[in-house]
Amino acid sequence: MTLLMILFAYLLGSVSSAVLVCKLKGLPDPRTSGSNNPGATNVLRLGGKGAAVMVLLFDVLKGTIPVWTSYHLGIDPLSLAFIGIAACLGHIYPVFFGFRGGKGVATALGALAPISDWMGLLIIATWLVTVWITQYASLGAVITSMLAPVYTYLIKPQYTLSVVLLCLLIIWRHQPNLVRLWQGKEPKISERLKPKA
Ligand code: G3P
Repeated sequence: MTLLMILFAYLLGSVSSAVLVCKLKGLPDPRTSGSNNPGATNVLRLGGKGAAVMVLLFDVLKGTIPVWTSYHLGIDPLSLAFIGIAACLGHIYPVFFGFRGGKGVATALGALAPISDWMGLLIIATWLVTVWITQYASLGAVITSMLAPVYTYLIKPQYTLSVVLLCLLIIWRHQPNLVRLWQGKEPKISERLKPKA
């Protein structure tokens, strides 16, 4: 059952909602426009709030559905961690989209939220406060990824190692953002790309 759920999580994670929503709404391909990242932040840049919220919700659910279902099937905590990581790996390296995926932030949130309500709330609050102060979505993701293992250790210590692995993967995927932040070239979350004439 665990292996089946890992496979299900990976395949569900591999559905790139950013690419599909952009196609559906006639927006540019997020893999080749803006930050070239198929995620909600880039869709916000390319198409505005409505499209971005759709992507965000779908990407969160890609993490929540397999972990929540597995939890209710009685699957053990270590396997739940692998199932959450599989969903994020699907989002980051999607089999259906040439293995070119996003950075895993929303899917990781979705996978961690069923572990504990407090975890979900603390993660969302950290991201929101960082982005509110700095205006950089990527910095919000990096700082949240640095703090999430601490929250996990305090709330559900048995998941700490898997959350550390997941957060390292997310931070590693933000390398281009970190370089742009360092160079002062990272776009703020409110910057919307003008459609090409
Ligand atoms: O969740 C992804 C966000 O942290 C960065 O997105 O498009 O600015 O690379 P983007």
